[in-house]
Amino acid sequence: MVAIVYYSRTGSTREYAKGIKDATGGDLIELLERNPKKTNGQCAIQALFGVCPQLENKDLELAPYDLVVLLTPIYAFNPSPAINSFLKIANLKEKKVYLVTLGEDPKSHRKPTEKIKRKVEKKGGTFLGSSSFRGASMFKKTFYFTEEELRKNIGEIVQRLS
Ligand SMILES: Cc1cc2nc3c(=O)[nH]c(=O)nc-3n(C[C@H](O)[C@H](O)[C@H](O)COP(=O)(O)O)c2cc1C
Repeated sequence: MVAIVYYSRTGSTREYAKGIKDATGGDLIELLERNPKKTNGQCAIQALFGVCPQLENKDLELAPYDLVVLLTPIYAFNPSPAINSFLKIANLKEKKVYLVTLGEDPKSHRKPTEKIKRKVEKKGGTFLGSSSFRGASMFKKTFYFTEEELRKNIGEIVQRLS
């Protein structure tokens, strides 16, 4: 069973999460912050300082799943704060984890990917690998990908999961 755990503020990461759900039949788990961020500045500062905001999610039970696909936007060269919160509370023992990062510049996602990999391994998970793609434009909030590119990229991710 596959859990697709994601945080999305402007929707691009959600599109990838939904595409992976459609391709794998997994369960979507959207991470929701108790006090959603209102500004880009809040996102950047919390990401830079590794803040773990309180989540609304009551049920982050991962027992039924053997594979967790984790999706996050990158803010200020760091994982999103909601993903920090998830990685703090989740029990990843004996879980396989695949990471998908979204952002303006996927080539700069190595550092946040390494951070997440270390946390996954510290929580007892096995890090399978990662993919990085262009998501939404930071200021205009429009998506960089077409429907066709999304389908192709989802296909690549799903291939790497099997
Ligand atoms: C405050 C802020 C900082 C960002 N910093 C980065 C960054 O360091 N690297 C990057 O590739 N994208 C960066 N982005 C772009 C977001 O990661 C991108 O828009 C992402 O697709 C948003 O995901 P969402 O649409 O699911 O919310 C930043 C966006 C914001 C708002």
